[in-house]
This record gives sequence, structure tokens and C-alpha cells, in this order.
Amino acid sequence: MDVQTRRQVIVVDDNRALAEAAARRLVARVTQAGGRAAVCLTGGTSPEGLYRRLAEEPWRSAVPWDRVHWFMGDDRFVPETDPLSNMGMARRLFLDRVKAPRRNIHPIDIGANYPEGAARLYAEDLQNFYGAERLDPVRPLFDLVLMGVGNDGHTASLFPNSPALNEKEKWVLGVAKAGMEPFVPRVTLTLPALASTHEMLFLIEGAGKRAIVHRVFAGEDLPAARACADGELVWLLDRAAAPEGAT
Ligand code: 6PG
Repeated sequence: MDVQTRRQVIVVDDNRALAEAAARRLVARVTQAGGRAAVCLTGGTSPEGLYRRLAEEPWRSAVPWDRVHWFMGDDRFVPETDPLSNMGMARRLFLDRVKAPRRNIHPIDIGANYPEGAARLYAEDLQNFYGAERLDPVRPLFDLVLMGVGNDGHTASLFPNSPALNEKEKWVLGVAKAGMEPFVPRVTLTLPALASTHEMLFLIEGAGKRAIVHRVFAGEDLPAARACADGELVWLLDRAAAPEGAT
């Protein structure tokens, strides 16, 4: 089915409401999973409010930490102590502050020295977790995949016009040179791996995002517009980010 027709758009008042709504959806998904659950996190500024809220009540007590595994959709080739590390940010804002077992946290191993090697190791980690090397649309890999959009339309580390956008087989790719500053190498999940989820949730906040959201919703062929899900595809925006007539 066409991504355009399947996208649900939800607009909330402000960034506080965005964090609350995202936390509610995350808790609903991991609870619904019954047993083990998998969440794929994202970097960027839009999820920061959500991450902070997860470490606070009522959400802190609502997440079944023992059962949830945390992955990352993309990361930069920098140590976790670097402010540019997505997993470093997630740890600082919530994973280090809650009872998330260490074994449930799946960082992209940047100790692998070069992005292709790190991509291979991360694909292995995901495949071991999933228990197969091929994704089955009736049994998605993730319960929830969080996403963001950059002002050029990139999502995860999938940049406009990159050949990585056409990857159909591999789950994870090394990105030798990012499409924007800082030009450090990155590792990214591919569109098919990200799509293997019960829900894909884009978190978009602030007036600075209105123009790019407008382009995505208008049907321009941008990476974020290509992202789809086996399950629900939801774009959660605060009012400032919502283009006119968004809902
Ligand atoms: C990253 C992200 C990236 C992000 C967008 C939006 O590490 O950069 O994973 O895809 O979601 O760049 O970022 P902002 O929310 O900061 O605008």
C-alpha cells in the first residue's frame, strides 16, 4: 500500500505533550508485546523530551524494563562519551537512570574500527535477537521504531540520493561519509530493517521542521518519505512543526 495513504498524522500542542504522547505509545507497545519487546531508538533533538520522561514517573514504573531491549537506528563513529553519540545520549537521559539491564541495551559497536565491520556486527546482533536472517512481515523485528527527520529529509543516517536507500537485503550499512556535518562515518539500519516493526513513530518538534514536513507530506521523494512499517506508521508532531492542513 502507498505510504501516503497509510500515514497517520497526530498533532499535539507542544513539546511536553509530544513527549507524553510518545511515552504513552511506547508503553502501550512494549506492554502489548507480552513477552520480550524491542524498541529501536533514534538520535536527534526531538526524542530528548521522551527520553527524559521515561526516567520519571509515571512512565518509569510503567515500563517493564526487564523485558524491553533497546536498539539504535543509527549512530556516529564517536565514543559514547561524545555528545554526538546517539546511544550515549539515550543512556544519559534515561537508560542509565532506570533499571534497564545492561544485556538489554544494544549499542552499535564503534570499537569495530570501521563502519562496514560495525554494520556487520550489529546485523548479527539483530539477527541473533530475531532468531533468523530474513525478516518476515508477519513477525516484525521491533515493537516500536522511533524516527526523526532532518531538514534535508534524511532519516536515521539515510541521506537524500544515497544508494543506501535502495538496499533490499542487508539490515545494517556503514555510511563512510554522512550527508551533513559532522562528516564522521556512521552506521545505519536500512529501510527494510526499520520497516520491520509493529509501529514506526516519527517524533517531530519545532517550527524549524515545518518546511521539511510539508515536503514529505506533499509526496516528495525524500528518505523520510520512503520510510514505512509493516505495522502502523505514525507521524507525531507538535503544533509548531505541523504544516497547514496537516491533519
Ligand atoms: C541522527 C538521527 C537523525 C535525526 C534527524 C533529526 O543521529 O542525526 O538519528 O536521523 O533523527 O537528524 O534530528 P533532530 O531531531 O535533531 O532535528
